[in-house]
Amino acid sequence: MTTAVSLDVRNLSAGYGPTRVIEDVSFSVAPGSRLAVLGRNGVGKTSLFATIAGHTRRYGGEIRLGGTDIAPLAPAARALAGLGYVPQTRDVFSTLTVEENLSVGLKKRPKDAIEEAYKLFPRLKERRRNLGSQLSGGEQQMLSTARTILGQPTVLLLDEPLEGLAPVICEELTAVFSALAQQGGMTILLVEQRIQSALDFADDVIILERGRIAWSGASAALAGDRKTVEHFLGVGGLH
Ligand SMILES: Nc1ncnc2c1ncn2[C@@H]1O[C@H](COP(=O)(O)OP(=O)(O)OP(=O)(O)O)[C@@H](O)[C@H]1O
Ligand SMILES: [Mg+2]
Repeated sequence: MTTAVSLDVRNLSAGYGPTRVIEDVSFSVAPGSRLAVLGRNGVGKTSLFATIAGHTRRYGGEIRLGGTDIAPLAPAARALAGLGYVPQTRDVFSTLTVEENLSVGLKKRPKDAIEEAYKLFPRLKERRRNLGSQLSGGEQQMLSTARTILGQPTVLLLDEPLEGLAPVICEELTAVFSALAQQGGMTILLVEQRIQSALDFADDVIILERGRIAWSGASAALAGDRKTVEHFLGVGGLH
């Protein structure tokens, strides 16, 4: 069992080549707490996570994981330092089996640790010999999540994990995310379009607009602030 650590982002600016899409973003997430990252399409939610994981060009700023600045590190070194990233694209290896995909997430852990992934998602055990390309969207999300969890992250980034999935699968995944959060070994950041689900899950929220933080505060405060929700996220965000 890991011990959750804080994530402190300071004055982070980043983009793709010469295009800046993240502008002077600062926020902190306390150890073991959950932060929702919200905002309309194209505001930079994925780019923020990709920057924390080391996949964009950083122009400046710090990314402190448990106090240590990981910004100078390559993506693999950030993962070894405790950063878990489940990308919006899921990134399942289509020509590898489920079990081979999970092996990739083990880093230096022994092979039998894969049982932890099967305990989390029993469906993956049933599908262990199937190729990544043979999985449903929900199964791919389970695999991508389980592969990251096997690396024993202390900070976990989940980018729209429920996107395009059937309600019954969403419930299954949400139950696992809540269980992981309640075990207390991980600090979790979640991007989610379903605002109510995000507010139910998270302690705190940041809202992005054109790559900058436009609003930040407690989930409970945003849940009671229909005007802010409508302004930054559109009508019908809360039910
Ligand atoms: N690989 C890339 N190269 C250049 N620009 C990119 C790249 N990826 C994203 N962008 C641009 O960066 C901006 C932010 O995109 P991003 O995908 O981070 O937004 P998002 O909030 O995650 O959107 P969505 O809700 O649709 O997932 C957009 O203007 C997008 O066109
Ligand atoms: Mg995105």
